[in-house]
Amino acid sequence: MTHILHVDASARGGDSHSRLISGELVAAWKEAQPDTTVTYRDLGHQDIPYVSEPFIYAMYTPPAAQTPEQKALLAPSDEMVDELLAANVYVIGMPMYNFGVPGVFKSYIDQIARAGRTFDPATYQGLLKDKKAYIVVAHGGGGYGPGQAREAYNLLVPTVRTVFGFLGVTDVEFINLENLNQSDEVKAPILAAAREQIKKIVS
Ligand SMILES: Cc1cc2nc3c(=O)[nH]c(=O)nc-3n(C[C@H](O)[C@H](O)[C@H](O)COP(=O)(O)O)c2cc1C
Repeated sequence: MTHILHVDASARGGDSHSRLISGELVAAWKEAQPDTTVTYRDLGHQDIPYVSEPFIYAMYTPPAAQTPEQKALLAPSDEMVDELLAANVYVIGMPMYNFGVPGVFKSYIDQIARAGRTFDPATYQGLLKDKKAYIVVAHGGGGYGPGQAREAYNLLVPTVRTVFGFLGVTDVEFINLENLNQSDEVKAPILAAAREQIKKIVS
């Protein structure tokens, strides 16, 4: 049975293209496999804490020695890690902001990269096993793909591939939506191509 962790990171709501397509992928999956369960996390409309000094000390204190304050500091991180461990498919929608992941997604990364929970600090092996990730990325511009003019500007794909790979998630497929700051006529084939990709994914 599939358990999807669906995450959105756009700051926008109804106008967001990454939310639209990530939502369509989850809906198509549920239609194809009705017993699919879904956990949803809306990073775009949530405050994810930054790494702070107390958080660092809490993270590296063995659970039995943690104070109630430290446990409380780690609670959001633990919850996000639990979600990742429980799901076997990740569907993540996010915009490209200033060539990289949205700041809130970087904060999410800092919450989920946990020694002993999502990676083994002795071996640097990832502990998220047998997961598949689909990453829907919305871009206002274009040319960020391999061999294209702005490939070197694309800090988002290397960030996601490196961090998820480190945590054990090496099976990552991107659904790229480029040139969205354009007319509906320009956008239509871009969204249509994403929908074709979704059909292939769920078939
Ligand atoms: C703060 C900010 C930074 C952005 N930086 C980029 C960028 O570096 N490259 C790009 O192609 N588009 C950029 N855009 C455009 C967004 O990626 C585009 O509007 C996208 O559709 C947003 O995702 P959403 O539709 O899911 O909200 C930026 C938009 C904002 C608001």
